Amino acid sequence: MKKLKLGIMISGRGSNMRAIIEACRLPDFPAEVAMVVSNKGDAAGLILAHNCSIETRHVDAKKFADKDSYEAEITSLFSDMGVDLICLAGYMRILGDGFVSHWQGKLINIHPSLLPKYKGLDTHQRALDSGDAEAGCTVHYVVPELDSGEIIAQTSVPIEDGETVDSLRQKVLTAEHKLYPAAIKMIAEAL
Ligand code: GRF
Repeated sequence: MKKLKLGIMISGRGSNMRAIIEACRLPDFPAEVAMVVSNKGDAAGLILAHNCSIETRHVDAKKFADKDSYEAEITSLFSDMGVDLICLAGYMRILGDGFVSHWQGKLINIHPSLLPKYKGLDTHQRALDSGDAEAGCTVHYVVPELDSGEIIAQTSVPIEDGETVDSLRQKVLTAEHKLYPAAIKMIAEAL
């Protein structure tokens, strides 16, 4: 089985990244992690990936003249590694149109809401404020418009009496850790 090569982009703790790395360790999983890139040098996820013997790079936007050249460096790193699919996993910068169109159809993200509801930030607070009966997470293709690309997979979780932002965030995150590897598997198997 030829495995799909993944490039993962993070900015922080990398719990979704870890879930993907763990899934990729299963012998029958149809993907492998080729490289993890972080825009933050102190991202906990970078150390975690390094400790899993995965190639890691800190690419610091401040060292580049502009966003295009910064993102061109990431494209070049991933291309050199033969990356087939980029997974955004808590990557906290908005990507430029050039990068997004270069990787069109090969760039996915996980978002902590039931898209198209609650694009952007504070998704759990907004779900609670709206009195929703359920919340959840979505894996979607990335397009230039924020959190708006085609939906690949979604999981919902119930919002219960006494639910807080923290309890909901934890519940949704647990669902994210199952959904992201499952979505990657779906994509790999459809190729
Ligand atoms: C997750 O909630 C994800 O949905 C959002 O950013 C968060 C990243 O968390 N895009 P982690 O770094 O994967 O733990």
